[in-house]
Amino acid sequence: MSGPRRLPGDPSGEALVERMIRVDHAGEYGAARIYAGQLAVLGRSPAAPVIRRMAEQEKRHLAAFDRLVAERRVRPTALSPFWHVAGFALGAATAFLGERAAMACTVAVEEVIDEHYRGQAETLGDAEPELKAAIEEFRADEIEHRDTGLAHGAEGAPAYELMSAAVKAGSRLAIWLSTRI
Ligand SMILES: [Fe+2]
Ligand SMILES: [Fe+2]
Repeated sequence: MSGPRRLPGDPSGEALVERMIRVDHAGEYGAARIYAGQLAVLGRSPAAPVIRRMAEQEKRHLAAFDRLVAERRVRPTALSPFWHVAGFALGAATAFLGERAAMACTVAVEEVIDEHYRGQAETLGDAEPELKAAIEEFRADEIEHRDTGLAHGAEGAPAYELMSAAVKAGSRLAIWLSTRI
């Protein structure tokens, strides 16, 4: 079995995998909080069942990474308290702008997570089959969430391009920070 591909100066394979689990755990935590924020605002709206279904899947993703963090003794990100608040705030704030804005937020976040998981799966190659299987399974769910957002009018949200760019930038920054801190 080959290890993750490495470049000179990169952390060792083990440290690399640890960072992957840390950032994915943080990301799934943030995602669960975003959907919780959306539901706090839109829990009685027509979109509620759709949002609730995605929220349930995020909880399943989070549970899998909770388990990996414990089993592999990975230090979780120190930013959890921040993601707890920021994720919820992002979900609630976009939901206050309406269902389509909430969906636009979902599309933007899930596009970034799709990219992120695709990159990780490529890096892992044949290594870490359990982690890789989780990443690929969850990535398929995230793509479905993106498509659900598009099917529910995300692109009709006010200032769609601007919001999408802002949410994507924020998501990429969150990934960068949670990999390192
Ligand atoms: Fe997820
Ligand atoms: Fe998702």
